Amino acid sequence: MTDNSSNTEKLEKLSRLKKERNAVILAHYYQDETIQDAADFLGDSLALAQQAKQTAADVILFCGVHFMAETAKILNPNRIVLVPDLNAGCSLADSAPAGKFREWKESHPGHIVISYINCSAEVKALSDIICTSSNAVKIVGSVPKDKKICFAPDKYLGAHVIKKTGRDMVLWDGSCQVHEIFSEQELIALMGKHPDAGVLAHPECRQNILDYADFIGSTKAIIDYAAASRSKEFIIATEPGIIHEMKKKAPGKVFHPLPSADGCSCNMCPHMRLNTIDKMINALETLSPEITLPGEIIQKALLPIEKMLELSK
Ligand code: 13P
Ligand code: SF4
Repeated sequence: MTDNSSNTEKLEKLSRLKKERNAVILAHYYQDETIQDAADFLGDSLALAQQAKQTAADVILFCGVHFMAETAKILNPNRIVLVPDLNAGCSLADSAPAGKFREWKESHPGHIVISYINCSAEVKALSDIICTSSNAVKIVGSVPKDKKICFAPDKYLGAHVIKKTGRDMVLWDGSCQVHEIFSEQELIALMGKHPDAGVLAHPECRQNILDYADFIGSTKAIIDYAAASRSKEFIIATEPGIIHEMKKKAPGKVFHPLPSADGCSCNMCPHMRLNTIDKMINALETLSPEITLPGEIIQKALLPIEKMLELSK
């Protein structure tokens, strides 16, 4: 049997199981291309949360990382939320353990606590408002000027938002292991080689990368920008999985993934890339691994997520 025919058989099996389970497959742009193509809905963190809120499916198979699937569960406590691989975590979420986060919050009384969606359900439950990379500037801007703000866990996104809003914020010391290792030297070299290319960057990058960007935005915003722009060539400073959708939305345009400091031009998120079609089939067959959360955490974490969804309308 050729690889292609076995892949086709796997995709057929996945589709059959999806119907049997009345499941919906949600996937992030950082997933493997085959997973993106198999998904019912593809999006950035905000769009995936919005989609999870709207679904009527009995089962949500979430192809992304753990905190995203937890968000879907918080929004759908009575539905089954599955992940292909329970080990698909996130360095940002891991940088903010709930106990330390609680101490940090308590050491800043009177502050509004805004947390990036890349955090655990426990941290969400301790937060006042959640934000994503696509609405962080708007959400921080919505806080009355006389209120002090704590922002967690991404210090680079936080610094970018401070620059955009002029608001002073206390920042948690967390970062994304993928975005923080993009190389400025490699960026300068790529810009020299492709002088007409626009530089598109995710706000999880360090400031020394963002300084060169023609556009800074969430994964969805970057895709939309590339499609709408008159430029034909781009250097992409985010996880290269995004390029699959960029090629679809902007056919004929050229995308150069920015290498990391070790010169690797395949700076993939090791957590996102744990998911595979085989693991998706297994999840729908066995209805596991399933995301489960204590009711109290779901109740408390729902409030700041709903606030974000309301402010994002
Ligand atoms: P967005 O989906 O908001 O662009 O964020 C990217 C990311 O790192 C998800 O983990
Ligand atoms: Fe987390 Fe970074 Fe991976 Fe996104 S790319 S899931 S922020 S480690």
